[in-house]
Amino acid sequence: MAFYHKSGKIPPKKHTTFYKEDKKSLYWEELVSSKGFSGIYSIKYHIHEPTKTTKIEEISLDNGVAWDKSPLMYYYFDTDKKKSDGDFLSARNVFLRNNHCSIATAHPNKNPDYFYRNAFAHEYIFVHRGKGIFTSDYGSIPFGPGDQLIVPLGTTFQILFDTMDNNKLFIVESDTPFEIPKHYRNDDGQLLENAPLCERDIVLPEYCDPVDKKGDFRLFLKANGRAFDYTLEHHPYDVVGWDGHLYPFIFNIKDYAPKVGKLHLPPPTHLLFDTQHFVLCNFCPRPFDFHPDAIPAPYFHSNVDSDEVIYYVEGEFLSRKGVKEGSVTLHPMGIPHGPQPGKIEESIGKKGTNEYAIMVDTFEPLQATLNVRDTMDPKYFKSWLTE
Ligand SMILES: [Fe+2]
Repeated sequence: MAFYHKSGKIPPKKHTTFYKEDKKSLYWEELVSSKGFSGIYSIKYHIHEPTKTTKIEEISLDNGVAWDKSPLMYYYFDTDKKKSDGDFLSARNVFLRNNHCSIATAHPNKNPDYFYRNAFAHEYIFVHRGKGIFTSDYGSIPFGPGDQLIVPLGTTFQILFDTMDNNKLFIVESDTPFEIPKHYRNDDGQLLENAPLCERDIVLPEYCDPVDKKGDFRLFLKANGRAFDYTLEHHPYDVVGWDGHLYPFIFNIKDYAPKVGKLHLPPPTHLLFDTQHFVLCNFCPRPFDFHPDAIPAPYFHSNVDSDEVIYYVEGEFLSRKGVKEGSVTLHPMGIPHGPQPGKIEESIGKKGTNEYAIMVDTFEPLQATLNVRDTMDPKYFKSWLTE
C-alpha cells in the first residue's frame, strides 16, 4: 500500500532502545519487509520475541485435486454446489489454479480456534455473504458484504463470523502482491482524481490493545500445497505498535466508482488491482454508453493471452442469461467468447445495469480441479447455439 500508517506505541527512532513499563526490559522490534528490504515494509513492536515456537507439525490441507483431463472449453459452474464444513480456511474449496494464483470459495460455518498465516501467498478475500471481524497482528477491521480484504503474505490473522449460517467468501491467492495500478496514482503514490477509488474508501486495521498471554497458541502456516501447525509460546497479537506501508486493508466493491463512455469500454476500465500474473476488476452498477446507436453489450472477443474468470455477485449480468449469484464462468485463452444469443440486441437502448461481479484475468492458463467438474453445467459450451 502506498500510504504510511502509524498505530499504537512506537519509539521515536527505528532500531533504538524501546523499554517496557519496568524501564528494564525491551519491546522486540520486527521489520516485515518485501522485495529483499527494497520494497514496502512495516515495523512491529512485540511484547515477546516473535520467534518463540515450541512445536512444528505438518498438517494436511485440501487444495483441490487437479482435473487432469479437463478439456479446453467454456466453463460455467456453481460454487454454491460445493460446500464444506469448516472455518474461513478449512472450508475453502479450490476451483482453479496455476503457478501464480488459486481461486477458491468457502462457506464458513464455524470460527477457528487457531491463527493463520499464508507464508507464500497474498490473499484477496471477497465477502459475498456474512458479517464479522477480521483480526490480525496489525489490528482489527469489522467486515460485511461487499468487502474486499487484502491480506499481505506473512500477516497473522483470523476471520471471525458473527453467525454461522449463510456465509460465503470468494478467495484469490497470489504469489505477487495485489497492487493499486500505477496509472491510478501520481508520482508520489497518491490516488489520482480520476481513479475509481480514493484513500477515504480504504479501511485500515483499528488499533487493538496487545494481548500479553503465555500458553500454547496454534498458528497454521500455509506454504503452497502444504501446511504446518506451529505452537507458539505466547499469543501472536502481542504488538504494542507498528508503522509503515505494509498492512492489510479493506475496500468495498460498492465504493468502486465505475467509468462510463460514449461507446463500450473494455474490461481494463474496471480494473481494481493488478499483480504480476493477473488482474482483478470490479464490475458495478453504472449507466450504459451514451452514443445514440451504442451497443452496450460487449462484442465477441478473443483475449489471446488471458484466461477470463468472472464471479457473479449480484444483479442481472449484461452479457449472460440464467446466471446465478455465486456462479463462475471461465472463458479460456484460445477460443473467442461473447454475449449469449439475444443479449446484444437486448442491450440496445438500455440505460444501465445493476450488476456486481468480480473478474480475474490470468496471464497463464488455469488448471481446473475436480470441484469444477462436480459443479459445472456440461452444456454451457452449447449456450451460444440458438436451437
Ligand atoms: Fe470477456
